[in-house]
Amino acid sequence: AASVRYEAEGSSAVCTGTVDSDWTGFSGSGFCNGTNSTGGYVQFTVNAPAAGTATVHVRFANGTGGARAANIVVNGGTATSASFESTGAWDTWATRTFTVPVRAGGNTLRFSPTSSAGLPNIDYIDV
Ligand code: GCU
Repeated sequence: AASVRYEAEGSSAVCTGTVDSDWTGFSGSGFCNGTNSTGGYVQFTVNAPAAGTATVHVRFANGTGGARAANIVVNGGTATSASFESTGAWDTWATRTFTVPVRAGGNTLRFSPTSSAGLPNIDYIDV
């Protein structure tokens, strides 16, 4: 099936931080700049047609020199971990792909940072 785009500033997302538009190259009207803390998550509610696995493409920018680590938490349980490498600049975006378990219907998919650096800036996910 064709993928669905969920913007981090959209109605299916919660950005614990601010929705910003001060760096260029984002899709939609902005991106999530999560609070720089372990609590600074972004969460999407995504629909799955059936139970199984979903492929999640995440677009992000990390203008720092180091990677930013996060767990991907699905329906409250950690599904996998992610390391968002430096993209070299905040207006340089990259995409990483993850496979996560889903149930039929609505699923919460949270990017939960595991260090006080927080998340990279998150533009959207395609699921
Ligand atoms: C800078 C940048 C933000 C980014 C932040 C961070 O402040 O302008 O877009 O989110 O660094 O370190 O997360």
